[in-house]
Amino acid sequence: MSPKKYLVYMVPINVNFRRPELESLADLCGLTVDFSDYREDSPFFVVELGNDSQASAWIKRSILTKAIYEYWGEGNDFEELHRSIKSQPFYGLYQRSYLNDTFKFEFEAYRGSSKANRVDKIESFGYLGFQGKIDMKNPQQVYGIIEQYKPISDNVGSTVPEKIYFGRLVQRSDRHAMEVYDLKKRPYKGTTSFEAELSLVSANIAQVKPGSIMYDPFAGTGSFLCAGGHYGALVVGSDIDGRMIRGKGAAQNINSNFKYYQESIQFLDVITMDFTHNSLRENLVIDTILCDPPYGIREGIKVLGAKDPEKYADKEKIEINGKKAYLHRDYIPAKKPYSLDNLLDDLLQWASERLPQGGRLAFWMPTANDDNIETIVPLHSNLELRYNCVQEFNKWSRRLLVYINRGPEFNGQSNSGIKRSTQNFRERYFSNFKK
Ligand SMILES: C[S@@+](CC[C@H](N)C(=O)[O-])C[C@H]1O[C@@H](n2cnc3c(N)ncnc32)[C@H](O)[C@@H]1O
Repeated sequence: MSPKKYLVYMVPINVNFRRPELESLADLCGLTVDFSDYREDSPFFVVELGNDSQASAWIKRSILTKAIYEYWGEGNDFEELHRSIKSQPFYGLYQRSYLNDTFKFEFEAYRGSSKANRVDKIESFGYLGFQGKIDMKNPQQVYGIIEQYKPISDNVGSTVPEKIYFGRLVQRSDRHAMEVYDLKKRPYKGTTSFEAELSLVSANIAQVKPGSIMYDPFAGTGSFLCAGGHYGALVVGSDIDGRMIRGKGAAQNINSNFKYYQESIQFLDVITMDFTHNSLRENLVIDTILCDPPYGIREGIKVLGAKDPEKYADKEKIEINGKKAYLHRDYIPAKKPYSLDNLLDDLLQWASERLPQGGRLAFWMPTANDDNIETIVPLHSNLELRYNCVQEFNKWSRRLLVYINRGPEFNGQSNSGIKRSTQNFRERYFSNFKK
């Protein structure tokens, strides 16, 4: 069958993440999509696909898309739109295919809106001659009239659309998941919890797969575990801070969040563990790593070990009730400071050893927005840096870095062991980047 035209209707926010999400989801469903008509400054993307099932499989997980439509036509006003629809080679076929189905029309508006004349606008499609009944609740077909307005100024919207698309809805996206996972409603959360929208987007760009194992080595309150579980992965997490893992009792911890979302089946476990002394058995296949490592904002980065090993050697000899103190369950081991550069080197190295070929490592890294300082992202010779998506705040940004494990043959660039961070992010964050 020859390919069909579809209209992808995206959201105009987090634009840096939109194409990586669409590309990653296309790849996940084995689709080759031509992105040559994709534009960052437009929420519309007309694309060719084989059939509706492909369109549906592609967009149903997307967060930064609203929906995908079977493309019927477009115009700068309604007259032009109708001429466009009637002139399409597929017009007759489409019209006949859904002639007797129940249906409704829906309006979507971008950069403005006008509710005026909506009935007249719908009636102007009378020539389509649909015979089915109008059903506002559960129609077989939904037709979208998607209007793009040109704002008169930053604060004043226009009421006259400058462009209109028309299409038959094939698949709504997963955007409603943002409400389900909204932090405001989450039973167990903390100061480190990651917002719903970009944690779900991260899971999509990381290509978290149903039935696969996803690991968050710096799980905290488990935001990425929730996102991974939502997309069907079996999730496991770890954190050096036992308080994060224990939560606030049985009713408020990571496990109880999974119960709240009715996704307990996705939750494998969480472990109190220093990532750099990892105890996950070596033959456990980790398909995806998705995390938000510590940046030392709330406290300095620490790993297990003694700052002064000589002094600590004496402490190791201490016994309580005839048993070495460090063998008691309530023993709190010593921790020593560590640098973010080293921790990220360890993360990349571990990912290169544990991910299958093609498996993805995705993590967030904050940077100050200094014009004169280049941001150096960590690189590993086995890992292809696939995406570097930036979310800008006023004085700082954070970026989602996504790597694909290509194995030793890849022979990529590495900057392991090299000092990359030029500024102390924590100090500068608290001094409002004045230093
Ligand atoms: C930015 S927070 C992650 C927050 C998490 N995404 C959430 O949803 O709450 C980083 C976490 O890494 C943990 N951490 C710091 N050093 C660690 C280490 N060496 N090994 C494992 N976890 C560590 C911290 O305790 C903290 O909870």
